[in-house]
Amino acid sequence: MKILVTGGTGYIGSHTVVELQQSGHEVVIVDNLSNSYASVVDQIEKITGIRPAFESFDLADPKKTLDFFDRHRDLGGVIHFAAYKAVGESMTEPLKYYHNNLSSLINILKGMQKAGVTNLVFSSSCTVYGQPDVLPVTESAPIKEAWSPYGHTKQISEKIIENTSRVNEINGILLRYFNPIGAHESALIGELPIGIPNNLVPFITQTAIGLRDKLRVFGDDYDTPDGTAIRDYIHVVDLAKAHVVAIDRMLKGKNKKQVEIFNLGTGKGFSVLDVIHSFEKVSAQKLNYEIVARRPGDVEKVWADTRFANEVLGWNAGKSLDDMMLSAWNWELALKKAKA
Ligand code: UFG
Repeated sequence: MKILVTGGTGYIGSHTVVELQQSGHEVVIVDNLSNSYASVVDQIEKITGIRPAFESFDLADPKKTLDFFDRHRDLGGVIHFAAYKAVGESMTEPLKYYHNNLSSLINILKGMQKAGVTNLVFSSSCTVYGQPDVLPVTESAPIKEAWSPYGHTKQISEKIIENTSRVNEINGILLRYFNPIGAHESALIGELPIGIPNNLVPFITQTAIGLRDKLRVFGDDYDTPDGTAIRDYIHVVDLAKAHVVAIDRMLKGKNKKQVEIFNLGTGKGFSVLDVIHSFEKVSAQKLNYEIVARRPGDVEKVWADTRFANEVLGWNAGKSLDDMMLSAWNWELALKKAKA
């Protein structure tokens, strides 16, 4: 089937395009390249031998989005990644986040309705849970007050899809990602943060390669075994594969409800120091880091109950933390080689 992947030149999007093509789907990417590069399309072609169709425009533009759906009435579904995602930036530029993340989703839903496209996979986040009261966190855990406009856009987007599905015959699968890291084993695609990375793993690999002075570990006074914060890190390729399962589930009419929600994590929590130690082991590099104060807005610990995704989707995140860190390091090395 032909699948629209919005944000398909981005980090998770590009890995998902590869997995979709390798499972026989035809892909059309829409991306405005605000946080990615057109050359990612070449890299996808190198991995899969197939060049995905690619259109560059802004999905927040209603006219262009409706026009796209007019021209693509044969779509089997949409996987919607395109969104702004920097938590800190969303605090200083909230309207940029509300406008982009919500209007693009609304335009896509209108386009789907017009073109009779019924299946939507949406990128949500474990951020909707805030600091959960019970760990591991299940999909039925309460949605807490969002800590950032970014997180709030994910909560509102989930509601928009739920409300729309009731009246517009849209099937939705909302995937709540935990912390995606790592890169494709080919080292041809990976995370390409523009400017100084906010996230832990690109900061680690950029420090080790000499682009950054040292990593700052935000807080060692949390109520965790080593005092540093705990997250559920998941390999981006495992995450990408779940999108193929999700879209196939709806294409085959196997979804049990119009909107289904799944946590995508490994179910295991690792501390910041665990991640650093895994990196040092697989890369044989000593990482320069210091402990500093907590980062405002960070939760202490969160990891997923993945049983629902495992049982219902028949999907499992198989890759270990060491696999994730090695692939992230190989990607950083490949970037350096490409620049040389
Ligand atoms: N960390 C550091 N130093 C850094 C960067 C991060 O110590 O330079 C720590 C953070 O304090 C946190 C952990 O590493 O404990 C992971 O931080 P990330 O920034 O990589 O990821 P977050 O868990 O903060 O954020 C991720 C996604 C968000 C999503 C959020 C939901 O990036 O999009 O999970 O919890 F909203």
